[in-house]
Amino acid sequence: MNLNSALKKPVFKCVAESSSELGVDTYVIGGFVRDHLLNRGTPQDIDIVAVGSGIELAQTVASKLPGKPQVSIFKNFGTAMLKHEGIELEFVGARRESYDRNSRKPTVENGTLEDDQRRRDFTINALAISLNKDTYGELLDPFDGITDLEKKIIRTPLEPGVTYSDDPLRMMRAVRFATQLDFEIELKSLQAIAQHKERIKIISKERIVDELHKILASEKPSNGFALLHKTELLPFILPELIALQGIEEKEGQRHKDNFWHTLEVVDNIAETTDNLWLRWAALLHDIGKAPTKKWHKKIGWTFHAHEFMGSKMVYTLFKRLRMPLNDKMKYVQKMVLMSSRPQILSEEFVTDSAVRRLVHDAGEHVDDLMTLCEADITTKNSSKQKKYKNNFKLVRQKIEEVEQRDHIRNFQPPVSGEEIMETFGIKPSREIGIIKDAIKEAILEGEIPNEYTAAKRFMMKKGKEIGLKAK
Ligand code: CTP
Repeated sequence: MNLNSALKKPVFKCVAESSSELGVDTYVIGGFVRDHLLNRGTPQDIDIVAVGSGIELAQTVASKLPGKPQVSIFKNFGTAMLKHEGIELEFVGARRESYDRNSRKPTVENGTLEDDQRRRDFTINALAISLNKDTYGELLDPFDGITDLEKKIIRTPLEPGVTYSDDPLRMMRAVRFATQLDFEIELKSLQAIAQHKERIKIISKERIVDELHKILASEKPSNGFALLHKTELLPFILPELIALQGIEEKEGQRHKDNFWHTLEVVDNIAETTDNLWLRWAALLHDIGKAPTKKWHKKIGWTFHAHEFMGSKMVYTLFKRLRMPLNDKMKYVQKMVLMSSRPQILSEEFVTDSAVRRLVHDAGEHVDDLMTLCEADITTKNSSKQKKYKNNFKLVRQKIEEVEQRDHIRNFQPPVSGEEIMETFGIKPSREIGIIKDAIKEAILEGEIPNEYTAAKRFMMKKGKEIGLKAK
């Protein structure tokens, strides 16, 4: 097969010229070839393999490119990288490798192209295109990756046990590619992953989280989590989710399986938003249910305060996975903490003050919260589904109405602490907090509108009540 069409970028000609000057055979390999054959948009990076020194080739290429880009050299790995027109070009010498069992660091020897292809993760990532004069554009595919691409199969070039054990990150990559590309992992591979699952422990949390992000960002993330479950990798990564699995029955009363429910919620939300952190919130919204589950003779199953427990668990989980403990985490915590609030609202007669409180507490994220709640509807009973969806629609409408009138989102106190001090001639003290809170409460309850004059009048009244005198 000739893939000249993949090599339109002028940089390939430059690589070809450089390698012919150096007398080394060179190929484009990996994700670039795979994605070209799958028609998957423009690449972020291009991997070049040279049967010789990748570093030397990179330096020669850089010297010929306009602007002579800088080459980053990773001597220990025998690789080099340069950036050209927004794309990262990675150069590596063809290698045979065997890995140390306790780390991902390989011992490296020079090898042929086929040696190099054999040590790669999947047949679909081992496809190479020649950049050599006589065979320019020709596809080199000794492991029949092209058939796997057509049949949508994730398969390893070597015995799967060897490939995964060599680099256990590949277990996550298999799941991730299967999810991203909507491929199947072949049975032998699935079995090998289950067999080597414990080896995931040597992989850094950051790499694991990278893969989780990519799974969550896919069109149907549940496929990935179902695979992590099937291969038994999930307990090593997100035990909180595994704890949600299963249905208990007492005296004829069952609760739903919150693991599979959660995966449905994640798929639902993936249909409406690309916000990765909102997708994380969907994944974690019920994790507090496992530790709070209780059976009561009179009322059945309860998960009392699971949202609060869940939001605490988000912190522990982020910390364990070395995820950022920043505003992203706080956002996920907030979504989990508030995840039942719109539900409660929609079940009752919706008062303006309840809506104002919801908008006040959710602030700028109130729309995201509604999106999460809508995704949380997984009932298979179509009349119930219709009813719940309609209820949320009403809550959304009410939010709009109340917001237009009262401007509660991003609430700013209409009277400042300074003005309170000035008016009553007092220094910073508890009283200021009391008055400010009372004003806020009065606005949320609808006793006064959210505006300066009314708030000032209310301040005077409240001040008097607690024994303050205006200057
Ligand atoms: N590779 C591998 N084992 C790994 C990581 C990478 O064998 N653990 C090989 C694969 O041949 C892969 C290539 O290195 O195609 C480049 O890796 P990377 O850039 O991580 O992946 P891509 O295949 O380019 O895909 P993506 O960019 O979607 O991650």
